[in-house]
Amino acid sequence: MASYETLLLERRGRVAVITINRPQKLNALNIQTRAEGAAALEELREDESVRVVVITGAGEKAFVAGADISEFEGRTAVSQRDVMTARSLFTAVDTFPKPVIAMINGFCLGGGCELALSCDIRVASETARFGQPEINLGIIPGGGGTQRLTRLVGEGKAMELILTGDMIDAQHAYNLGLVNLVVPASDLEAKTLELANRIAEKSPVALRMAKEAVKTAARANLDEGLRREIDLFALTFSSEDKDEGVRAFLEKRKPDFKGR
Ligand code: COA
Repeated sequence: MASYETLLLERRGRVAVITINRPQKLNALNIQTRAEGAAALEELREDESVRVVVITGAGEKAFVAGADISEFEGRTAVSQRDVMTARSLFTAVDTFPKPVIAMINGFCLGGGCELALSCDIRVASETARFGQPEINLGIIPGGGGTQRLTRLVGEGKAMELILTGDMIDAQHAYNLGLVNLVVPASDLEAKTLELANRIAEKSPVALRMAKEAVKTAARANLDEGLRREIDLFALTFSSEDKDEGVRAFLEKRKPDFKGR
């Protein structure tokens, strides 16, 4: 197992928890954190014991307060473009073959909000705060914010957040559909892990196909998406997990999915 300087990686049964660990900088994403995050996901991709990944931030104050602004000074346009495209953490999360849940424990801003948006499900503490404040720095979101936020909450709400740079609270984020669940801070870990473990009991093959099918909805037109869904649905019929799931239902017992 690799060791990382800017994040913690723990395996809790079938759930792996990645904690961005720069609390003194509100877990801002510097170049090293992005690279380590992508490397940690690469490690977890091949690990059959891990079925669901949770991403969170260290400390009580922040999930991730954005890109590390101190790295912006003096950068050229070309080098900044390279940072955003090479081994993009956001794309690594988005295309990761297992479900990824954001456990949002505080400030979720800029690149932090984009990281959460790249995840499949977002669980927020009541104390979380959300925003795309890039406009206040004279820049715009560059980690997918203009695209993923718009797809999730619609153009009007995304425009408002991106053009004003305003912060909103967790309840507001929930009302917009930006987060799936808001829970008291003291319950955040337990509720998120409960959800993660519930998903981890499903067939890993079916989870993978389901994630890919849902992701296709934002990328393809309806006819292409429906064709892709049928192909992925049919693929699940080649799995031992499908035989086990059907047999378990007929035998009135809980299925034991092996991921094959
Ligand atoms: N990049 C680099 N450092 C950051 C950071 C970021 N995105 N966000 C916070 N920090 C650092 C602060 O500079 C400070 O470091 P210091 O103690 O060495 O001075 C430390 O984290 C604590 O933050 P601080 O600003 O003192 O906390 P606060 O409670 O007063 O304010 C925020 C919290 C989130 C409102 C404020 O930190 C903030 O606006 N951060 C930037 C958010 C942003 O614009 N993100 C998008 C970047 S593109």
